[in-house]
Amino acid sequence: MPALPARRAPKRGRLNNKGTALYPGSFDPPTNGHLDLIQRGSKIFEELVVAILRNSEKSPMFSVAERSEMLRVLTADLPNVRIDTFDGLMVEHAKSIEATCVLRGIRAISDYEYELQMALMNRKLEPTLETVFMMPADKYSYVSSRLVREVAQAGGPVKGLVPEFVERKLREKLDPAYKLGEARILEEPRRRTRRRKKKA
Ligand code: PNS
Repeated sequence: MPALPARRAPKRGRLNNKGTALYPGSFDPPTNGHLDLIQRGSKIFEELVVAILRNSEKSPMFSVAERSEMLRVLTADLPNVRIDTFDGLMVEHAKSIEATCVLRGIRAISDYEYELQMALMNRKLEPTLETVFMMPADKYSYVSSRLVREVAQAGGPVKGLVPEFVERKLREKLDPAYKLGEARILEEPRRRTRRRKKKA
């Protein structure tokens, strides 16, 4: 009997699934829960495309360009993750990028009903596209973009709920003076050096 070709064992935590998975969402703003799921998904799929819905009915806090920038910065260390945007039906976008799977996160039972409904509707629209559910770390099970926006808009702390980069963007968005203040702090040492030079 001919010997079977030797199979290299996948790295622990990697399932080596071939193909592209699409992770669609609003990401307004991206949270630590989203990032956790992206990191987990990037270990399972050969390529993970994170796609921001462009034509959402909701009036977003961050523009699509701002959300794309945040996601790009946050995933810069994940070479198989790409940031994308889409309009219209998600299954059509999945087909256009030749994705074979859709990745969605489930935090609690309360997410399940909505996610099940969406997955089954998407299956009806495109039977060849599978939805894969993953759970973020339990410490993020209560974190949602909507609650992050609500807390931040009311002036509450969002440390630990979103990456630091997003925290800064939230502060800039909600308090433009913060941006000016930061610029002043950066300029201050230069001004002091200049004054000292004059005296000498
Ligand atoms: O992060 P969200 O807001 O829960 O993501 C929802 C999203 C963007 C995945 C969903 O609304 C979507 O796929 N919209 C695109 C339109 C579509 O395909 N609708 C049919 C899905 S049942």
